[in-house]
Amino acid sequence: MGADARVPWADSLLELSKEEWLLRKSGFRRSEKHIRINETLLTLGNGYLNIRGSLEELPSGHAGGMYISGVYDKSEADVEELVKCPMWTDLSLWVEGQKFCLSTSRAIQHEQILDLKKGALHRRTTYRHPTGKILTLETLRIVMLHNQHYGCMLVRITPRNFSGPLRVFSGLNGGVCNRGYFPEELLKHLQLEKIERGRNFMYLEMKTREQEMRIAEAASWRLVAPPGQHLKWEPRIYGEKFTSEITLDVQRGKPYLFEKLSVVTTAREVPPEAMMKDAICRLRAFVRKGVQTEIRSHVSLWDERWKQADVQIQGDDAAQKALRYNIYQLLINGPPAPGGVGAKFLSSEGYLGHVFWDTEIFILPFFIYNFPDIARNMLLYRFNTLPGARENARRLGYAGAKYAWESATTGVDVTPRFASKLERTIRFIYTGAEEDHIVSDVIYGVEKYFRVTGDEAFLVDCGLEMIFLTARFWASRVIDSGERCEIRCVIGPDEFHEHVDNNAYTNALVKWHLKLAAMLFKHVGKSRPEVLEALSERLSLTRAEAAAWLRMSRKLGFRRDQKTGVIEQFDGYFALKDHVIDRFDREGHPVLPRGVTYRNIASTRLIKQGDVLMMIMLFPHAFTRKEIEVNYDFYEKRTAHKSSLSHCVHAIMGIQAGRRQHAYSYFMKTALFDLENLHKNTDLGIHAAAVGGTWQTVISGFGGFSIKSDRLVLKPWLPKKWESLSFSVRWRDRTVDVKVLHDRVSVLVHSLEDIELPLTLYRKTSRIRTNVLTELPYTAS
Ligand code: BGC
Repeated sequence: MGADARVPWADSLLELSKEEWLLRKSGFRRSEKHIRINETLLTLGNGYLNIRGSLEELPSGHAGGMYISGVYDKSEADVEELVKCPMWTDLSLWVEGQKFCLSTSRAIQHEQILDLKKGALHRRTTYRHPTGKILTLETLRIVMLHNQHYGCMLVRITPRNFSGPLRVFSGLNGGVCNRGYFPEELLKHLQLEKIERGRNFMYLEMKTREQEMRIAEAASWRLVAPPGQHLKWEPRIYGEKFTSEITLDVQRGKPYLFEKLSVVTTAREVPPEAMMKDAICRLRAFVRKGVQTEIRSHVSLWDERWKQADVQIQGDDAAQKALRYNIYQLLINGPPAPGGVGAKFLSSEGYLGHVFWDTEIFILPFFIYNFPDIARNMLLYRFNTLPGARENARRLGYAGAKYAWESATTGVDVTPRFASKLERTIRFIYTGAEEDHIVSDVIYGVEKYFRVTGDEAFLVDCGLEMIFLTARFWASRVIDSGERCEIRCVIGPDEFHEHVDNNAYTNALVKWHLKLAAMLFKHVGKSRPEVLEALSERLSLTRAEAAAWLRMSRKLGFRRDQKTGVIEQFDGYFALKDHVIDRFDREGHPVLPRGVTYRNIASTRLIKQGDVLMMIMLFPHAFTRKEIEVNYDFYEKRTAHKSSLSHCVHAIMGIQAGRRQHAYSYFMKTALFDLENLHKNTDLGIHAAAVGGTWQTVISGFGGFSIKSDRLVLKPWLPKKWESLSFSVRWRDRTVDVKVLHDRVSVLVHSLEDIELPLTLYRKTSRIRTNVLTELPYTAS
């Protein structure tokens, strides 16, 4: 499909957006890796359910899948995992007993196009069948944004050089399995509950085996044009598989248009006994309203979302396009109801669909600043899983609540005991037991949400309980060794070093967390005594407990080299063997120094990802420029970037440290992480933290934007080729439009009130009026 080729339904349904909004994947390569990378990148979704961009005929080597937020199951797996659900997108075309499939037919032309602006996946393939028959298949697939249960697939088939019978199948296949730990191992999480057919619908109801969560899928499949075409329709049920087969006599050169409409629900939204009736009613309503109407509503919601979320970079098309792709990923993964966001979003079974610290530290800020309701849903997941967090603490002999390093349905820790299948090695995993910084990472997200949105109801109803119970956990975990308080045997963000004492990142965050808890106790006691009284009674909280939090907070800290100012990552880190990264492979990835392997790396100062720099990133106002510089220069050289979470941290800190060329290159690595398959594992899913980190690098890195209590703070710096950077963020009930140029910024705060607000631009604070465009000069330093 050339740039100006028309999509089949361009006029009537959905025109392709402008080229800058399209991700094109042209040509077909049989390699499994390649097929799966495209499937990941071309995922569609709405945060309730997402579908990988698999080719409809599911060529051999595919890893197609549909994932529904929060639908996990364990059964015989090691731990609970996100369940692969039946996709409604399958389609197969047969002529003379042979299938048109990219595994067996030659592609004369093949392209998939993801339209980021409209959330739609287009495909156009012209196959040459082994019999010499040539046929063009065009599809348009949409997972509706405005109605999370709806999806549609429009299909146009044109026989190019033949006439005669053509069989076209589409159905619902319940026979899907998750991939297991070992190659070829399959884990079956779903069992058939019901499979039914009606005059014009198919219905499949599956149930997860252990948790007994039901999933209902209803679909209709019909020929829409040409009208009056004589055809044979045969719905067939084979065990857990439904196929709806249409046979018709096609004529060479003539297009045949089909339509599949689908509905997916779970027993979380509909009582189990009513699921079939409900799904069929929804399907009928969909058919009645018509796909065009639904697509219009879908596109208009996408327009609205982009209006808020788009970030414009003038002068750098590559950065702009990559950034938009990352924002697209965020937009299709915001949970429309309370729900966790996994480290691979809903794009695959990678990391078993589990929720990590990636969520609050890397992904949440985008939602806080753009769609606070979605951010709230993400935090409500943590609130709802507090009982699981309490159970985690209890099992380890601690008090309070300990958020799980890997979390799924209940919040009880589900970190696997052995290395995840992503890493392909068998080794024991200690993160579940030791990577405790997650507890405060969650609270960091809660505080940021409150600071930006001012949502006091959330703080009162949920946040305070989360903050107090987790503070109580720390108070039982922290050791008071006299002069200092210590946190022993942890893993910091750098997972190369396990069982370490006093990791600076963890200690700094816990110090902040305990202080926050103590201050809130005091503050709420004064401002809302009835709230504190009720909570204190329910949680048996006392003033003495809060006072102990403050004492511990004061005694927590980290060490630094007095001469150089470098912060020691954990006790004893400076005594480790010193190596720096000075070799890079052809793709620019760090190469471990000679003699260093993953077996002995813990005895060196080499680190997996930003750790001290992460700490500085979270508390930028607590460090001077000089401190940032020395720590950046020290740690950047010793970081192997073996995690997708690392590059954005180095981009943001590179800007703050004035190492700006580095910063741009780290930014592009983050932004292209999946688009260019940087770590060679995009086939296993999207790196959600890098996606959120891309957005943060632009807004808080290049834009230098943050909110400090009642004040806007800007410290921008733009790469040379960027002419300008524009974005818009939500702040309480206001919207702030920011445009950054190389020598000035313009800010417009839309608000219901006409008031003055402080804005700090580098070191200078001015007062700006709401609803008035203000331009201020600056010099980046
Ligand atoms: C990183 C963690 C991260 C996890 C999930 C690991 O490789 O070291 O920081 O939370 O991946 O993305």
